[in-house]
Amino acid sequence: MNAPVNRRWQVARPADEGAANAAGLALTADMFAKGEAEPPEPGPGELLIRSVYFSPDPMNHAWVRGMPGKFDPIAVGDAMKGGLAGRVVASNHPDWKVGDGVTGFLDWQDYNVSGGTDHMGAPLQRVPADVALASGLGVLGMTGFCAWFGLTELGKPKPGDTVLVSGASGAIGSIAGQIARLAGTRVIGIARGEAKCALVKGLGFDAVIDASGGDLAAQIGDHAPRGVNLYFDNVGGPMLDAALLNLAHGARIVICGATAHYGGPTAITNHLMLAMRGASMAGFFYFDHIARWAEARERLRGWLVDGSIREALDIAEGFDAVPQAALGQFAGGNMGRKLVRIADDPFG
Ligand SMILES: NC(=O)c1ccc[n+]([C@@H]2O[C@H](COP(=O)([O-])OP(=O)(O)OC[C@H]3O[C@@H](n4cnc5c(N)ncnc54)[C@H](OP(=O)(O)O)[C@@H]3O)[C@@H](O)[C@H]2O)c1
Repeated sequence: MNAPVNRRWQVARPADEGAANAAGLALTADMFAKGEAEPPEPGPGELLIRSVYFSPDPMNHAWVRGMPGKFDPIAVGDAMKGGLAGRVVASNHPDWKVGDGVTGFLDWQDYNVSGGTDHMGAPLQRVPADVALASGLGVLGMTGFCAWFGLTELGKPKPGDTVLVSGASGAIGSIAGQIARLAGTRVIGIARGEAKCALVKGLGFDAVIDASGGDLAAQIGDHAPRGVNLYFDNVGGPMLDAALLNLAHGARIVICGATAHYGGPTAITNHLMLAMRGASMAGFFYFDHIARWAEARERLRGWLVDGSIREALDIAEGFDAVPQAALGQFAGGNMGRKLVRIADDPFG
């Protein structure tokens, strides 16, 4: 039998050479080079994973540029690292068998071997057999975990609360809003443009604000006349500033992400409203909650399987679609969770 081809995306040039992209980010199309690596062989205690989906995430940018203490930069010529879902196709590992669905942050190539952990040092994650493989990168992956931890650990939604979610058409926001609704709250999403607003409404949000349609602070005020009790923020920048003007007394702001800041500093001017409204603002990194990932997955799996939460997946097709999908996320180019299917599921 011929050895399988092991295509991969690798880093083409140093991050600090060349122009930034339109969003001011180092991750540009000319940083991606297509290559091939030797197909890896699993050694004792290792498993071999066939990649099926790659997940473009803001972490791709952090990895290419490097972030002290969190992400070591990837050397030129090395494989790009990123989230992926795949199938175990050979295993010498006692906990993994052929056919298991698996996710982790690994090399963006067709085949990876692992001893059971990924490039973040985290254990590989199992995709439950009763959900689609892609959901391992969606509701049952990083994005679902972020929504769940941000709400259960920090936001603590209470029945009757008014909850505001930015980036509501995105991977995390689309799930966070639905979880908040399950807690008996009234949920308002923020998205940009008609199509994204329709997506958010279709997921059951009580209301959607089109941020491309005029004065955002005034629109929030119209939808939440008694103020926002909980703001789940994925974007930062002007959206956070507009939310700060509309807080109810004792409001909580959960900082999940700050997409508007990734290209450089963006001023926040209304933070004094935290004092005026006796409000609090706190952030989290979901790897700090690794001990509760299994609990999060089980809860989210239940909601996904019984239809309480709907998943919005935006799947691009083909290995060659990877750079564009990775870059598009910084321009708000996705509708829900962006994935790239690079190969057929060998057990699908
Ligand atoms: N805390 C953690 O542990 C953790 C882990 C992973 C990710 N994150 C962060 O969480 C945030 C959301 O992640 P995600 O996976 O849901 O991302 P996503 O799918 O790309 O969604 C983010 C949404 O933000 C909106 N947006 C508003 N202003 C934008 C701008 N200037 N540029 C690009 N998008 C903009 C876009 O929707 P509209 O176009 O409709 O506005 C976009 O769909 C990101 O900042 C990410 O880095 C946090």
